[in-house]
Amino acid sequence: MIPDSFFEELKYRSDIAEVVGSYVNLRRRGRTLNGLCPFHSEKTPSFTVYPESQSFYCFGCGAGGDVITFIRKIENLDYMEAVRLLAQRAGMAVPEQEGDDRTAKLKKRVLELNREAARFFHQTLMSETGKPGRAYLVKRGLTRETVVHFGLGYAPESWDHLSREMRRRGFTEEELTAAHLATRRESGGVYDTFRNRVIFPIIDLRGNVIAFGGRNLGEKGPKYLNSSDTPVFKKSRNLFALNFAKNSSEKNLILCEGYMDVVSLHQAGFTHAVATLGTALTEEQARLIAQYTNEVILSYDSDGAGQTATRRATAILEAVGLKIRVLSIPGAKDPDEFIKKQGGERFRRLLEGSHSATEFELGKLREQHDTATEEGKVAFLKEVAVLLSRVGSPIEREVYLSRICRDLGVDKAAVQAQVEREYRRRRGADRKREERELTAGKPKLRAADREEELLFRQEPRKARAEERILFYLTRHPDSWQMLQKMLPEEALLTETGRSLYRALIGRFAEGRPIELATLSAELSETAVSRLTGWLVTEGVNVTREEAEDCVRCLNEAAGQKTKEEIGSSSEEDLLRYIEAIREAKDKKGE
Ligand code: UTP
Ligand code: MN
Repeated sequence: MIPDSFFEELKYRSDIAEVVGSYVNLRRRGRTLNGLCPFHSEKTPSFTVYPESQSFYCFGCGAGGDVITFIRKIENLDYMEAVRLLAQRAGMAVPEQEGDDRTAKLKKRVLELNREAARFFHQTLMSETGKPGRAYLVKRGLTRETVVHFGLGYAPESWDHLSREMRRRGFTEEELTAAHLATRRESGGVYDTFRNRVIFPIIDLRGNVIAFGGRNLGEKGPKYLNSSDTPVFKKSRNLFALNFAKNSSEKNLILCEGYMDVVSLHQAGFTHAVATLGTALTEEQARLIAQYTNEVILSYDSDGAGQTATRRATAILEAVGLKIRVLSIPGAKDPDEFIKKQGGERFRRLLEGSHSATEFELGKLREQHDTATEEGKVAFLKEVAVLLSRVGSPIEREVYLSRICRDLGVDKAAVQAQVEREYRRRRGADRKREERELTAGKPKLRAADREEELLFRQEPRKARAEERILFYLTRHPDSWQMLQKMLPEEALLTETGRSLYRALIGRFAEGRPIELATLSAELSETAVSRLTGWLVTEGVNVTREEAEDCVRCLNEAAGQKTKEEIGSSSEEDLLRYIEAIREAKDKKGE
């Protein structure tokens, strides 16, 4: 058991505003701090940090808790891992614990293995064996300095170059396959995943090697091979080179499609370039980007696929409130090729002249319609109205509109009216969607949460009663005895509700106050979020009459079995209890 004093010290040294502030841009607003929620997509900040109670709560998605819960959620860790991370940050040693969680151990081993493998791949590249790899990278125009900076490596055409060496260093086959560095053979044993490839290690923001990308040097197999998700890696949550780009002094980020684009750009001095990891941009990555910048320059390939991807990415980035510019790369298929052909200075000029996403879309629309004909003009302007209705800034709308109408020689007022109609329609639709999302609760629910969500919808009366009685309990700790008698745990609607009920009564019975830091060890994330929601609620009061109603409602609904157990004596107890507090209150009033 880790002593309480350790957690106290850890909490003391892990100020929530500071910890959260390193992930989320926070702005002070009176006694609280606000920012864009890192757990769901939003444009207006509903994520709130409460320094006084050392907690956070999002009024948009209902995520909430203490500093440990925050780290668990944002880093995707279990409780003890989050504790360890915070301890490391605070420079504290975590007391040894027997029965250390298996998955935590595996994660640790996989990280160690990744680090050694990256080093070994790099050494191989620099050794005699690495000649083909070095020749390839030289051909691609990379300097030795760049190769070292990115820690690039080489996996020769061999079935066991890596696995043999890692086994020798004490790593197991299980660890190798868990890291996706080796694949299991049906006949037993394992073989190397990366063969005849140049290796790009993927490094997270804490400097851990979390995965690898491998560029094929031969004909067999896909051009790039990427680690699939492992215990330490989720493709959809990471970006290549963000570990470097986050330190760039540029105020925006360049988002590319490929590893080579990023490496070339960095070599040419554009150290604010990042790329996704062999998949299309995800919402999680967009939110990650939004934590570091408010503007993205999309620099995808100039082919059709790249342009389609640009459009998709624009929508995702806009959804998290990022400003977007789109780079068109003339005469080259991607940024890497452009730099090779034209040099960095030319690229800088491209960046300076990059268009807004709206301009990019307008150009596309213009290509799709023959604006020389009247019908073409009308069809074009209709689409323009829809497009411009999405532009948030009225000044920006005005600028585009004026230019288009001038170009086409049409009356501005008519088009403007159309844009405004579209704008109003869209705002209405947006608001409805937001409301829907809010009432539907958290955007991404685990299976268990989904079941509870369903219960909440099917049994609104019980759901409300559960919510209110637990809220009442948080505000009236001394009601625990009465509730323990009146309301059996099973009568609550959801497992989350029951676990909270159990935990709160347990605490109050020991005469301890509600403390998120220690409660979050025994409660699920959902439970901690619900609890935090009640703690930060202001101006709501559940009276004891209402509490009494809730108890009755839950007990009635709990069915025959419990009804018999509780019976009339409970009712009497309840009445007696209520009588007792009335008296106490009257006395106070005197
Ligand atoms: P591209 O095919 O555009 O490759 O794929 P590239 O970046 O120009 O690579 P080079 O210049 O030929 O070396 C872009 C990205 O798509 C993913 C990789 O992340 C790649 O960097 N990809 C591509 C794969 O994951 N698998 C593939 O087989 C191909
Ligand atoms: Mn390329």
